[in-house]
Amino acid sequence: MTRAAPLRSEAFRRLAVAGAALLFVGGCAGLGSAAGDWAAYGGSPEGDRFSPLSEIRRSNVGRLQEVWRVETGEGGLQTSPLAIGGVLYVLTPDQVVLALDGATGRELWRHRPEARNRQPIRGLSYWRDGAERRLFTSHGTFLTALDPATGQPAAGFGRGGTIDLREGLGREPSTLPVFLTTPGVVFRDLLIVGFRTSETAPAAPGAIRAYDVRNGQLRWTFALVPKPEDPGAETWPAEALATAGGANAWAGLALDPERGIVYAPTGSAVDDFFGGDRKGDNLFANSLVALDAATGRRLWHQQLVRHDILDRDLPSPPSLLMVRRGGRTVPAVAQATKHGFLFVFDRVTGEPLFPIEQRSVPASDVPGEWSSTKQPFPVAPEAFARQQLTADMLTKRTPEAAAAARAAFDRLRRNGPFAPLAVDAETLVFPGFDGGAEWGGSAVERERGIVYLNANDVAWTGSLRAARATNRGAGVYQKQCAVCHGADGQGAEGVPAMTGLGGRLSLADIRRVILEGRGRMPGFPQIGSPDLEQLIHHLADPSGAAGREVQAADARVGSRYTFNGYRKFLDPDGYPAVEPPWGTLNAIDLNSGRYRWRVPLGEYPELVARGVPATGSENYGGPVVTAGGLLFIGATVRDRKLRAFDTRNGRILWEGTLPYPGAATPVTYLAGGRQFVVIAASSPRDPKAPPGSAYLAFALPDVGKGAQLASATRRD
Ligand code: HEC
Repeated sequence: MTRAAPLRSEAFRRLAVAGAALLFVGGCAGLGSAAGDWAAYGGSPEGDRFSPLSEIRRSNVGRLQEVWRVETGEGGLQTSPLAIGGVLYVLTPDQVVLALDGATGRELWRHRPEARNRQPIRGLSYWRDGAERRLFTSHGTFLTALDPATGQPAAGFGRGGTIDLREGLGREPSTLPVFLTTPGVVFRDLLIVGFRTSETAPAAPGAIRAYDVRNGQLRWTFALVPKPEDPGAETWPAEALATAGGANAWAGLALDPERGIVYAPTGSAVDDFFGGDRKGDNLFANSLVALDAATGRRLWHQQLVRHDILDRDLPSPPSLLMVRRGGRTVPAVAQATKHGFLFVFDRVTGEPLFPIEQRSVPASDVPGEWSSTKQPFPVAPEAFARQQLTADMLTKRTPEAAAAARAAFDRLRRNGPFAPLAVDAETLVFPGFDGGAEWGGSAVERERGIVYLNANDVAWTGSLRAARATNRGAGVYQKQCAVCHGADGQGAEGVPAMTGLGGRLSLADIRRVILEGRGRMPGFPQIGSPDLEQLIHHLADPSGAAGREVQAADARVGSRYTFNGYRKFLDPDGYPAVEPPWGTLNAIDLNSGRYRWRVPLGEYPELVARGVPATGSENYGGPVVTAGGLLFIGATVRDRKLRAFDTRNGRILWEGTLPYPGAATPVTYLAGGRQFVVIAASSPRDPKAPPGSAYLAFALPDVGKGAQLASATRRD
């Protein structure tokens, strides 16, 4: 319950700022990737989200307090910073890179890229060889190499330090939305990356690519939508391969540096919700793919959802750890899914370490759709999100909420975790579209075989409608935008409605949002003239002026069916219509496949005030575990907390309040000999939070060091 008293914090900040120059010099002396650094997204190439630091530990974490804060303006932040030699590298909501003194938050330099947009960038990558160092960032459709000392673009990399990620995918680059929201991994002198693309056609065909860290040249590509002559092509209609998109790895990669293997989790093929034009299993969509990191050659793959029509992307990088099997220690890889399972494989052979059953699932009755009749389910560990919603699991929060939830439940189509969507009728989606697991990733104690994983546990609903459009702009809207904003532009929780847009935004503003994206919305730079103009006019004035009306056939609706928009299954007061827990934190022992503990994660402050026990809440962003026996996590979107849990039992040992929800994975590092915990916080996920974003640093009070610093500065 500790919160830095503003005065104390301000006083400390002044002291610390006074000594910043000194600290910075001290920090830079040790340039390597030391134990106190957080030099990769996920903390290490493997992505353990584990730190060997223990200055902050169970016995003293109760004294943790906010020591500095850097405000970064309005917008969404999902960044997990890098910390190298005491310098923290972060991104702002508009993709500006800042280097901060890790001890004080003082800005050392900033890099403002020319082309940028408002999509959250989840992190950066770092490479070093002797005195040569590079920091990789992304903005718009580009990847840029910077000098970490100055923030200047690295000479000799691409064109002026930048490469365009749309190039080299075998399609006309200007038609492709390609964004590096999650950073890549570094293997020797290669930067290996996936990308984010659109959820509807046209989308880029997924690929894993390796670039030379020095000159930016493409060294290898693994096509996740196979070429007609390649293995996997038989799982698609031949004619689909030339235009198919998605199956991309947007969630980030994990690397086994010793064995030289890179692991890529992939998302759905496009369109997310109708696959009638991609009949077949659609490899390598929704798969864990293991590649030789030096050459891009495929070593093995496991498809975890076949012919996905429910947006069941693999949402986070897998975890690499060691598990015991019959007296042997096996290098394992564990992949969490949106539908609530942890699939565990031998990292080298791809063999499952817990048996996988092929269970029958219901087929879609949407005309023209193709279904996979079986899907893989691991027998252990047990699912970390509920799989079947029955009437007795509906909310009992109030009699009114219970009655409303029951009435709505009775109207929904329901058929287990793979219930296919239907035309013009809502289907229950449980686990929900945001998991189960999401993009934050898991933390592991690698040698002990333990995974720490946070999950959502609320129900959503979804439905399809036959695509129709009265004009060309409406056609583009149905094809590209209705998936989130709703077929009637009605919006959804966290997605603004398009109604009355003309009165709110200028035509130029609408154009900018479409081209650049914002928050969860990807940019659509590929929508060219005249579609873009028609779309903008359609949004500003949906009734459609005469002259823009065209035949539906000309409206170029891509898929035969469009998605009616993501909807949460909520009670009339806006709380989840299922019983808590609505979000959980889990510790799973992969030696046995059993849970060590499982606790609700997050709360609704107004329910707590009324005496309701912790319900858990939806959460975005993952945990970090330390040698101090602690697990740090923010993630909860309703209570704006950063918490420290005891890794032994899931007990909360400390919580601090953030100005906005900490919907990002924290990091921990040493700066000036002191351990810091930093988290990005921002408002978009919490309707009640003030607009804004910031990086917050927490540390133990350290009067001794503060005084030392001050006197050192005075001597200067
Ligand atoms: C993946 C989901 C998604 C898709 C697809 C999507 N959007 Fe959005 N859109 C959002 C979200 C979420 C926001 C709110 C972003 C924020 O402010 O953080 C948004 C915001 C907007 C806004 C700003 C609205 C306002 O009131 O400020 C406009 C305009 C918009 N979208 C238009 C479009 C158009 C046109 C398309 C299709 C070309 C589209 N969107 C596709 C999710 C999406």
